[in-house]
Amino acid sequence: MSGPPGTGMPSAQSRMEMAKDVKDEDKLYKFEGVTYSAIMSPAENLVAAKTMEARADDVMLVAYPKCGFNWMVAVLRKIMAAASGKKETPDMPPLIEFFSPDTQKLIAQRPSPRFLGTHLHPDNIPVSFKEKKTKMLVVWRNPKDTLVSFYHFMNKNPVLPNVEWDQFFSDFMSGEVGWGSYFDHALAWDKLMDDPNMKIITYEDLKQDLSEGIRQISQFFGFPLTEEQVQTIYSETTFSAMKEGSSHGKMGSVFFRKGEVGDWKNHLSEAQSQQMDEEFNKRLAGTKLGALLKYDTYCK
Ligand code: A3P
Repeated sequence: MSGPPGTGMPSAQSRMEMAKDVKDEDKLYKFEGVTYSAIMSPAENLVAAKTMEARADDVMLVAYPKCGFNWMVAVLRKIMAAASGKKETPDMPPLIEFFSPDTQKLIAQRPSPRFLGTHLHPDNIPVSFKEKKTKMLVVWRNPKDTLVSFYHFMNKNPVLPNVEWDQFFSDFMSGEVGWGSYFDHALAWDKLMDDPNMKIITYEDLKQDLSEGIRQISQFFGFPLTEEQVQTIYSETTFSAMKEGSSHGKMGSVFFRKGEVGDWKNHLSEAQSQQMDEEFNKRLAGTKLGALLKYDTYCK
């Protein structure tokens, strides 16, 4: 079974089939000290990604897992299609760490502008993206809702091991989860906030005003849209529109779970909530990204 035509990628379905034969304890592994999915990002993919050649006009989307990556994949595909007047085509998930070495070769031949994405820590994003000054849209979300979303994802996605809530809470806090520590990623992005090639946006602000988010994203990448196009994209990318129109098949309910701000209140104990507050105060309070996350509004 293959993925989208011409990509040489295994389909989501075939990865789920592969996952059936893999024991939970073998589903995650470490590459250069960071945890990854053994099925989606084997070492050969991560090695191939290192030497990937970026282009100045690549459209790059970056997010820590569960911060709204797939939402922005849909928004960006629609923006690019609307701006070019071409039809949107079904395509592979743009995560560069999911590309096999063979897929990397196909990606190198694709015409510009290419749409790419990653959950990698900024220090591990292929160096060529910095050299070429590729523009990156970076999505963040408050840590309590990110943790809750990640926990459900672990238990619903067959390529990842099942986890108990308390165990996952402590793994998230110590950074022993896929792609590494939320706080390490956030601190690294905080240092890049003034880089004009980066635009950092939050899940909560997008929930508050998605139309404005679409306008800002299209301006940042230089894809002018009419207000009518903005409104069409808005109506196609609200949570309910995306959940109903999901082309993810069985994976639809995995990618579109609740889509709300504040679901952490239904999951974290008082002690866990306090532990997160302390960690936030210790690591992110007083930083620019910390301010952008509006922690007191969304996490208290
Ligand atoms: P929840 O688990 O809190 O529902 P990612 O794509 O980075 O894995 O992020 C997944 C989170 O984004 C999930 O959060 C999912 O429901 C939410 N999401 C997906 N599409 C969305 C949309 N159109 N609007 C709001 N949230 C969305």
